Amino acid sequence: ADQRISAGSIRQRKGGVPIVCLTAYTYPVARLLDDHVDLLLVGDSVAMVLHGHKTTLGASLEMMIAHGQAVMRGSAKACVVVDMPAGSYEATPRQAVASARRIVKETGCQAVKLEGGVAVARQIAAIVAAGIPVMGHIGLLPQSVESDGGYKIKGRSEDNVAALFRDADAVEKAGAFSVVIEGTVETVAADLTRHISIPTIGIGASSDCDGQILVIDDMVGLTVDRVPKFVKQYADLRSVISGAAASYAAEVRNRTFPGPGHVFPAATDKNDTLDK
Ligand code: KIV
Ligand code: NA
Repeated sequence: ADQRISAGSIRQRKGGVPIVCLTAYTYPVARLLDDHVDLLLVGDSVAMVLHGHKTTLGASLEMMIAHGQAVMRGSAKACVVVDMPAGSYEATPRQAVASARRIVKETGCQAVKLEGGVAVARQIAAIVAAGIPVMGHIGLLPQSVESDGGYKIKGRSEDNVAALFRDADAVEKAGAFSVVIEGTVETVAADLTRHISIPTIGIGASSDCDGQILVIDDMVGLTVDRVPKFVKQYADLRSVISGAAASYAAEVRNRTFPGPGHVFPAATDKNDTLDK
């Protein structure tokens, strides 16, 4: 039986205990996070974070599916949502449904996420009608940063605020079970949260959102490039990994690694395998 948190049960948590979300891209990290989160997002940020692309436009359906499969293998409890990459859904609702079906069929994930409000409402409605739960994503849209001229905070002007409300309404009406609000003025994110009846998941938004999400590599201090202001670094894995690499390099150079415990003596023992 499926013990996973469903998209439907995430939806029911509007206004309740905040929904804990993180991105995950790999089997070991999914294993570690599954006990602590409600939802794991296989974000198209994987293209930047793990593959070194300059923007999320470097993500492909194949990339998203491979990481989605790894995260599904590593988790048992979390609701797993896989991002639809740029170019896989914008053209038509038909294209969006075909891509969403492929992601769900090949990974077994609970839901998909796509970016945009009014502009993709027909896509969201079509995927939901095909029986696949959809998470929306409004505010700052990383797949549009090139056309938008950079990573710009949303909700500063009256026009901008009105557009955000139209997007939130469109995403809700299209049947999404929740919506990410990214890079949006705090009071606007809080107002949007009160305005719609599906949970809002904030990132650079407001503590009043119904849940929060961060990119795992940013959160644990593994991201080498500059991280956004909204990131709180809860650990410093860069220095842990650099320190380990420096120790290993020194021990290889002075021949203290491998030591007696890491080699196979000429006299065979009864369990002659690679096990410790
Ligand atoms: O790709 C991603 O990591 C995301 C989250 C930051 C919401 O879309
Ligand atoms: Na994303």
